[in-house]
Amino acid sequence: GITRHYRFDIRLQNVTHLCKTKSVITVNGKVPGPRIIAREGDRVIIRVVNHLNNNVSIHWHGIRQMGSQWADGPAYITQCPIQINNSYVYNYTIKGQRGTLFWHAHISWLRASLHGPIIILPRRKQSYPFPKPHKEATIMFGEWWNNDTEAVISEALESGGGPNVSDAYTFNGFPGPFYNSCSRAKGMADTYKLKVKPGKTYLLRLVNAALNDELFFSISNHTMTVVEADALYVKPFNTNILVIAPGQTTNVLLKTKTNPRHKTYLMAVRPYFTGSGTFDNTTAAAILEYEMPPSKSSSVIRNIISNNLPRLPSINDTSFVANFSQIFRSLNNAKFPAKVPKTVDKHFFFTVGLGTTPCPNNQTCQGPNNRTKFAATMNNISMALPTTALLQSHFFAQNAGVYNTNFPQFPLKMFNYTGTPPNNTNVMNATKVLVVPYNANVELILQDTSIISAESHPIHLHGYDFYVVGQGFGNFNPNKDPANYNLLDPVGRNTVGVPSGGWVALRFKADNPGVWFMHCHFEVHMSWGLRMAWLVLDGKLPNQKVPRPPADLPKC
Ligand code: C2O
Repeated sequence: GITRHYRFDIRLQNVTHLCKTKSVITVNGKVPGPRIIAREGDRVIIRVVNHLNNNVSIHWHGIRQMGSQWADGPAYITQCPIQINNSYVYNYTIKGQRGTLFWHAHISWLRASLHGPIIILPRRKQSYPFPKPHKEATIMFGEWWNNDTEAVISEALESGGGPNVSDAYTFNGFPGPFYNSCSRAKGMADTYKLKVKPGKTYLLRLVNAALNDELFFSISNHTMTVVEADALYVKPFNTNILVIAPGQTTNVLLKTKTNPRHKTYLMAVRPYFTGSGTFDNTTAAAILEYEMPPSKSSSVIRNIISNNLPRLPSINDTSFVANFSQIFRSLNNAKFPAKVPKTVDKHFFFTVGLGTTPCPNNQTCQGPNNRTKFAATMNNISMALPTTALLQSHFFAQNAGVYNTNFPQFPLKMFNYTGTPPNNTNVMNATKVLVVPYNANVELILQDTSIISAESHPIHLHGYDFYVVGQGFGNFNPNKDPANYNLLDPVGRNTVGVPSGGWVALRFKADNPGVWFMHCHFEVHMSWGLRMAWLVLDGKLPNQKVPRPPADLPKC
């Protein structure tokens, strides 16, 4: 592979959408920020320079970082954040991965505007395991707030309630044509447009970078073929509607019509939401525009602009989401076999859900009765971030007072999903890691629980891809459910939606030593504590696999 150099200057920049100009945190002045493009086997070196008045850190979501653990990026997990007027060089080699991933800030909720695509092409002279597309396009879904984004964030963090809803979802930063009279008056200027030629195949790389919402996506009158998820190839399947959770990426082939009836068709996203509270219940749209050869474009009918939005499932259509997620299978061919652990060395069971803690004195809190503050937990632990990075503490054997190694392997308080929610969810605020031996085959059941209402949680694991060997609704049944596991060709992912009121079973081989964050990819749940860290032990000395930290590793 070759080495590719990037420079990310993080600074405030004025951005205008919905006729509103405001100062936004950007990388190199743009939202979404620059794309990283590389081939499998390449080294990527990114100098990140912080010109802000607050600390920052960047995570390369889905990159496994084998041998480059210090480049993963989550603040206080693998590194201290990059301080004001400082920089840090992220340096990693992309090993055994190809597909679409993305980078985003990993501190506070700065990823609201700090995100961009990572495109990993196959090695030179290697091809995709599907027909070569005529062209490729990346579409990142995000959000736009008319108010100051940082103010929205601090309000949500202080009140302990849900976030102020965004004013629009976006396609590559653009909210689309339907928001307010001002946007309409400006025509399509605030709208993302994808130009296509008739009768060709396009590869669309779709990324959900929204903070708190899973999204439905569809293109009017067009079918998509899903070929990849989270930078892992899947058995191709056709669908008109996709579900994509924050942290997930999906590659689809779009075959354009040979004789389109319209010049334009609409693409749309809107949320899938099962929780309680407020959320942005709007639909964002973008335009798929056919460029017809002159010989054909004289035909009147082909110049008709279709303003028909594609049909999308209703906002809380959990059965659609569950059915959709179960279609995914690993491609599992000779070249890309699914390497599912067939035996298990370590069984873990985590409850994943919301709970409450007492409201601090002198505060009004938005939990039940106004006297409690929302908390979110895994196995009843609401993770408190340390003030120094866990990986550093581990590497230099200075963990005393930073973290404990007794993260529970099973819930502290058993929870019957189908029963009455307990008043007391036994929330404990703590910094604990779960220790796993190097190369252990791990099985992890994630069980949704909630005292408010059942809610789906997109759980993301750093440093790994895992196989989703089973899923279901209600309580996981250890005597019955494992019999139905798919150990042959389950989908591999780095982010999985734990079904609302249900469970998923994951397997992976702990072959990447280091400290790896796992958390809900809804920022609001993550800041309520729905996060934990794995400590995967290193190979035996002198075959230690976590290298020494680079000299410019930020200090706390
Ligand atoms: Cu995409 Cu820990 O995050």
